[in-house]
Amino acid sequence: MIEFMESKRLWYRAPEIADAEIIGKYINDERVRGHLSVTQFPLGLEAEREFLRSHSAAAPFVARTDVVFVFGLKKSPPDKVIGSTGLHQINWLVRSAEWGIVIGDPKQWNKGLGREIAARMLEYAFVGLNLNRVHLRVDADNVGGIKCYEAAGFQLEGRQRQNAIGPSGITDMLLMAVLREDWGKTR
Ligand SMILES: CC(C)(COP(=O)(O)OP(=O)(O)OC[C@H]1O[C@@H](n2cnc3c(N)ncnc32)[C@H](O)[C@@H]1OP(=O)(O)O)[C@@H](O)C(=O)NCCC(=O)NCCS
Repeated sequence: MIEFMESKRLWYRAPEIADAEIIGKYINDERVRGHLSVTQFPLGLEAEREFLRSHSAAAPFVARTDVVFVFGLKKSPPDKVIGSTGLHQINWLVRSAEWGIVIGDPKQWNKGLGREIAARMLEYAFVGLNLNRVHLRVDADNVGGIKCYEAAGFQLEGRQRQNAIGPSGITDMLLMAVLREDWGKTR
């Protein structure tokens, strides 16, 4: 298990197949998956292994459309994963990507880790990958998530009415984004 990058309190590395169990556990946790629309269905261990296999396969960089990291606290060993984050649907022509994040341990929420990860991933996207735009989708009732993204510099771009399902039922889907030029100003 090899660390790739760090932020103040966290290490980040590529996912390994051995992480499937811990990731599968938190993705199936009712408290964690509430705002993750892709995981309204139960996720089995083999399916999670397959996801990790396909998302960590070595590929020429221009053919890659996803970069996924798992992360953990610096005071914990490298197998003690507490969440995952990734840039998805990377468009190398437009230089854009969709950012996703899951802190899988609810005990770690509301301590500013979300914004720490956002800041690190934006730096990775804009400097490491030379992207120009990072966007995300968030349920309108994910109050903590929205607060975290605004603090990291994401701006509201749009609202898709009744296009998401959260723990409280059907809700709006918000579209938020950071442009490289704006990120430069707020750092
Ligand atoms: C969304 C998520 C990444 C946010 O991470 P986090 O570490 O909790 O975020 P932060 O602590 O940086 O910021 C959250 C802010 O929202 C606030 N908050 C949380 N719940 C709130 C609520 N119900 N009402 C008002 N504020 C709330 C927190 O107090 C904090 O603000 P503060 O730092 O000013 O006190 C994390 O909660 C998570 O992974 N959730 C489960 C999966 C998920 O929803 N993923 C995102 C899908 S878009």
